[in-house]
Amino acid sequence: MPAAYSTQAQMAESLLAFWVDAGVDAMLLDDPVDRIAAGRVLPPQRVAAPVVAAPVRTASRQPDISDAVANAHALASAAQNLEALVAAIATFDGCPLRFDGAASQAVIYRGNISAPLMVIGEAPGADEDALGQPFVGRAGKLLDRMLAAAGLDERVLITNTVFWRPPGNRTPTYAEQEVCAPFVERMIALVRPRMLLLAGGAPTKALLKVEDGILSLRGRWIDWTSADGSMTLPALPTLHPAFLLRQPAAKKHAWSDLLALTERLDRPVGPL
Ligand code: URA
Repeated sequence: MPAAYSTQAQMAESLLAFWVDAGVDAMLLDDPVDRIAAGRVLPPQRVAAPVVAAPVRTASRQPDISDAVANAHALASAAQNLEALVAAIATFDGCPLRFDGAASQAVIYRGNISAPLMVIGEAPGADEDALGQPFVGRAGKLLDRMLAAAGLDERVLITNTVFWRPPGNRTPTYAEQEVCAPFVERMIALVRPRMLLLAGGAPTKALLKVEDGILSLRGRWIDWTSADGSMTLPALPTLHPAFLLRQPAAKKHAWSDLLALTERLDRPVGPL
């Protein structure tokens, strides 16, 4: 032990301080832990609702999220406007992220509430968690610059597949996205955008129920249909801005996606 450290505790303290300085803010295992599957007991739900079958994406064993999904449906469908939806999400305790990763607040949406375009990202990160708004960190600033350059900055509402920060910024699990999905769908129904931009692989898989990677799906229009079949909208998967920060050479693909989207948004609607 170096002379500067008189106790093991001091050594540990110094190491922790080093990690904190280096930006480490969570201790993680190599693989994500699905706490619903692990039998975590969630706090009691606030609204009693009938149990509905949870959507099944693969044949593999899924945790039972039917109560939480049913509760989310009940809360979401009762919300008659965005303000009520925000209040409903804030009371929802069926998503474990609310207790595992997030600081204190739900991160729900920002932007124009009558936007013709909704951008759906993956999940809030540390900056979003601190400020309570989606896409306000480095990736968000890049997204804003790209939207502004495409003339879309006043024409978007931005949200995520889940409303609480996953610990250590891991990708949200299928179950976490499914319990938040009724709120995302209700947001789409209330905002009534004409199209969706899906930023990254996570929202693309969650909303479109596809398994292909984002690099093969980006730039391809795919219809999104709501769970009850009542709404269908064109959706365009694109690269996540955080990926673009790591791979600047890929920006040209995201830019061409945004141009295609703007062209479609500005195209006259209905028969010519
Ligand atoms: N990444 C996302 O997907 N969403 C955010 O809100 C911030 C970063």
